[in-house]
Amino acid sequence: MDAVVAATHPLDPLSLDEIASAVAILKDTQTLAATFRFPIIRLEEPTKADLAAHRLGDRLPRLAFILAIDISNGETFEGVVDLTAGTVSSYIRLPLDELPYGQPPIMLCEFETVEGTVKSDPRWIAAVKKRGITDEDIPLIQIDPFSSGYFGREFEKGKRIVRAVSYWREDIRDNGYAHPIEGVVAVVDLITNQVVDLVDDEKIIPVPRKKRNYGRETFPEPRPDLKPLQIVQPQGSSFTVDGWKVEWQNWSFRVGFTPREGLVLHELGIRDQGRLRPVVFRASVTEMVVPYADPTANHYWKSAFDAGEYGLGRLANCLELGCDCLGHIHYFDVPAADDFGQPFIMKNAICMHEEDYGILWKHYEFRNGIFEVRRSRRLVISFFATVGNYDYGFYWYLYQDGTIQLEAKLTGIIQTAAVATGETYPWGGMVDDNLGGPTHQHFFNARLHMDVDGGDNTVTEHEFVPRPWGEDNPYGNVFDTKTRVLKRELDSPALANGETGRYWKVSNPNIQNSVGKAPGYKIVVMPSPVMLAQPDSTVAQRGGFAKKHIWVTAFDAREKYASGDYPNVHAGGDGLPGYVRQNRKIENADVVLWHSFGHTHVCKPEDFPIMPVEYAGFTLKPNGFFASNIAMDLPPEGHGQSVDNRLQPSPDDTGNGSCCHT
Ligand code: NI
Repeated sequence: MDAVVAATHPLDPLSLDEIASAVAILKDTQTLAATFRFPIIRLEEPTKADLAAHRLGDRLPRLAFILAIDISNGETFEGVVDLTAGTVSSYIRLPLDELPYGQPPIMLCEFETVEGTVKSDPRWIAAVKKRGITDEDIPLIQIDPFSSGYFGREFEKGKRIVRAVSYWREDIRDNGYAHPIEGVVAVVDLITNQVVDLVDDEKIIPVPRKKRNYGRETFPEPRPDLKPLQIVQPQGSSFTVDGWKVEWQNWSFRVGFTPREGLVLHELGIRDQGRLRPVVFRASVTEMVVPYADPTANHYWKSAFDAGEYGLGRLANCLELGCDCLGHIHYFDVPAADDFGQPFIMKNAICMHEEDYGILWKHYEFRNGIFEVRRSRRLVISFFATVGNYDYGFYWYLYQDGTIQLEAKLTGIIQTAAVATGETYPWGGMVDDNLGGPTHQHFFNARLHMDVDGGDNTVTEHEFVPRPWGEDNPYGNVFDTKTRVLKRELDSPALANGETGRYWKVSNPNIQNSVGKAPGYKIVVMPSPVMLAQPDSTVAQRGGFAKKHIWVTAFDAREKYASGDYPNVHAGGDGLPGYVRQNRKIENADVVLWHSFGHTHVCKPEDFPIMPVEYAGFTLKPNGFFASNIAMDLPPEGHGQSVDNRLQPSPDDTGNGSCCHT
């Protein structure tokens, strides 16, 4: 079988031809049965060392990673296909029937079969009828196959199960989440296609019937007083795109995309005085978990790991129908594979554009009339994933002063619970009559394989502490910056602390900056919760990464995800807590900085029917990386000349906003 290798950069995502070729080679070589499905097909990426060799002229093999599951028996295999050689480099059966178990992510094709399995189960039919559902209602009932969590029950151990919850709808366009069928959970084995357990709670709560729809027909008279707002870029955008490579305002990076993480930024660097200086080798969000804080039948097990259990990339929105961005947009179409290994294009999956971002820097010197102001512009590289009820946007921003930012946008529809008339929901907030929203937390984890100025890096922790009164602090006004070097992995799991302004810096100790120090980038964290579930609860065991804000590991190509490789129905202990237990040296080493951040969500009426965007994220800021503010050379807007408005108060001469100062 001939392999197809396009003339690409080693970091480019697999092309359609490469995906088809990789699947064909694996199927042929291993004589795979027709019952095989492929939850993950992606580029097996070259390492920093591979790319260094590539720059010196080495040809790297194109490798495809394929996760293959036989849905007739659940046997699961990890394969690597060498597309350059046309061979299978490795094909390994995963011991998912042994502790700590784990399953490939849930596939879309399985969503479809779960509905039929549940609706044909007599126990489920009897249970929903107790709650007022009729035979006529059943065809329109919405079934949500939710990743199941793990509680050590026999039907969970080594099994490919989901827990399915149900919602009444009178019409296909109704918002089912307004009508939860409380106290009924079907546990479905995706291999046998059987309901292996049916929870029918003793407490019968009627289904809330008040409609809370959101289709535009529900709001036939939109507010009339909004005038058009247009972003005009008559000369186009300021970035250049060559395949997957982007350059903008001294920044240079490559766009990547994986089924699990979605958008990836590779080889992110910035040109400084004619030299391209690396900052981050690879940046992505590797996990997102939402543990719920309601102990009742429909909710206690809910803890969707949206990356590891579903795949943020697989569920990315195609923005063909109209984009969420304004301005001059560049879209990246992403080659992907369906569950059967068939390649297809995710049209417009990644959106890139520029945004005005207010003032970047400004000063007015009243003594000599110099008034200088520059506007900030940022490059936005984003995608949106819809995972069941929730919608998540992931927005990377690059700024002209060397700042990098990630902003996660949380929107969509909350999980809901039915509440009996006259009662108040005890596990969250009421959002409408007979409708509660369970309290929950959202935790993201960003993996930042750092590369500050190339070569090895060191991570230091800093915080501000008051200096005691003394000869060196006679007025009591002095405070110090306390610094701690993270030498080994177990030094690293750390919590943010706004009170002391605790922050972390990634520096290159092998290079000196303009003031004789190691050039670095600082991670600026937002106020962010940690997971509040008990440490030995199963969700905390499975999502241990969310117990700390900062983790640092020594790079290992096998350690890709904060929650480990297969968090679905996993007994726990994998991912970051396991990685750092090796306690490898991280001082002046090839380090990966992992940051957990998120949001604690106590539901309220304003969240329904669709929640306005909530934000979470972090910033990486140059800290001793450059010799000065690198954005001083930005051109002024408009007239551009200095205006002293005290001396020239003429309204005709207001090029720089002089009205503000008169
Ligand atoms: Ni929420």
